[in-house]
Amino acid sequence: MDYNNNYNDYNTQRPRKKVSKETFRKRQLTAVFVIAFILLLIIVLFAKACSKDSVKKTGDTKVKNKTAVTTTTTVDSAAVTTAPPVTTEAVTEPTTPDPNDTNSFQLDKYTVYVDIGGTDMPFVQGYPEGSSEADELWSSDNTAIATVDAYGHITGVSPGECYVILRSAKDQTKEAYVKVVVADSSNAAATTDANGENATSADATESATTLSSNTQEPQLTAEAPAPSKIDDPSLHYETFQGEPVLIVNKSYSMNPANEPGGLEATTAAQFDKLAQAAAADGLTLWVASGFRSYSYQDQIYNNYVNMSGQATADTFSARPGHSEHETGLAIDVNDPSDSFNNTAEAAWLAKHCWDYGFILRYPQGKQDITGYKYESWHIRYVGTKLSKELQKSGQTMEEYFGLTSQYQ
Ligand code: DAL
Ligand code: ZN
Repeated sequence: MDYNNNYNDYNTQRPRKKVSKETFRKRQLTAVFVIAFILLLIIVLFAKACSKDSVKKTGDTKVKNKTAVTTTTTVDSAAVTTAPPVTTEAVTEPTTPDPNDTNSFQLDKYTVYVDIGGTDMPFVQGYPEGSSEADELWSSDNTAIATVDAYGHITGVSPGECYVILRSAKDQTKEAYVKVVVADSSNAAATTDANGENATSADATESATTLSSNTQEPQLTAEAPAPSKIDDPSLHYETFQGEPVLIVNKSYSMNPANEPGGLEATTAAQFDKLAQAAAADGLTLWVASGFRSYSYQDQIYNNYVNMSGQATADTFSARPGHSEHETGLAIDVNDPSDSFNNTAEAAWLAKHCWDYGFILRYPQGKQDITGYKYESWHIRYVGTKLSKELQKSGQTMEEYFGLTSQYQ
C-alpha cells in the first residue's frame, strides 16, 4: 500500500487560510447582522400578512353590519338611527344546518324579531348527538340589545341587532346562532324616512303596520287552517269541514319516512301567537318538547320501559311510530310532568289553546279512550275549526270520530 501517495492526496486539499482575529470578528459581526436582518424581514412580512387578514375580517364585519342595518330599516327606520353598534366578535353568520345533520342543533327559526320588552324564542327541534335539552347553554353576544334566559327566551332591550348563541354544555363547539332584530315601535311616529325627511303620520302608521306584521302581533280571533295532508296512504286521516285531520294514537301510526323533521309550520306559528297571548297575561309558555323523530321516541319509550316496565310505560309514553310528536303537530308545554298540572300556565293553556287551533289531547278521565293518562302539557294542533268544535263538544278526537286507541 502506498501510504505516501495517500499522504500526497490529502495534501492536494485547499490549505486553510490563516485569518486575523480582527477579520474573524468582522465576519462574525456581519453574520449576526445578516441573520438579524433576515429575522426582521420575516417578522415584518408575517406582521403584514396578519394585518391584511384582520383588514379582511373587518371588511366582512362592515358588510355584515350594513346588511343588518338594511334589515332593520324595513322594520323600523327609527331603529337604524338609534341602533347601538353591533358587537360581531366571534360571530359567524347563522346558517341553517342540514336537517339531516344529527351532529348540530336544529332550530325552528334562525332570525327572531322582537320589540323592546317583547319576547320570543327559537324552538330546538334537534340536538347534536350526545346532547339533550339539559345541556342547552344560551347566551347573547350583546345584552344591551337583547337578553336570553336559560331556556332560550329572548327579550328585546334596545333597538338594533345581535346574535343569540346556543351551545351544548357537553361540547361547546356545537353551536347555533340566531339573529335577533329588536325594534322600537314607540318611536315610529318620531322617525325620519329613508331620505332623512320627516315622516308624515301616514308614514308612521304604515311603519307601525309593517312593524306589527313583522313582529307577528297576536291576532286573538284569527282563524288558522288545519295542516295540509301528507300524501301517504299508510296514514289515517279523518275529515272535518273539508279539512284533513291526521290521527296518530295507539291504533294508528306515523310513517317515519314522512317525518317532518321539525314542528309543522302552522303549528309553530300558532304556538308563537299562543305564547305571545300568554305573555300579555304575564305568563311564559315555551316548547319543552316539539318534534321527535322515530328513533328519539324509541329511546324515550325504551328508557321508560326499562325504568317502569312496559305496561306502565304504555300509560304515558307512546311506542315509537305512535307518538304525535313524530308528526310535528304536538307540543309539550313548559314542564311535561304532573307538577305542571296545577300551575297558572296549565290553567291558562286549558282555557286558551283552543282559540289558536290546539286541543288538550289527553284530558283527565279519558285514559281508556285516548290510551294515555292525563297530560296537562301536551297540546296537538288541528286548526281552529276543529279545535273549537272539540272544545264545544268536550270530546276527544277518538270520541268525536269514533276511533279506538289500542295497540294491535
Ligand atoms: N306522552 C305522549 C303520549 C307521547 O309519548 O307521545
Ligand atoms: Zn307530548
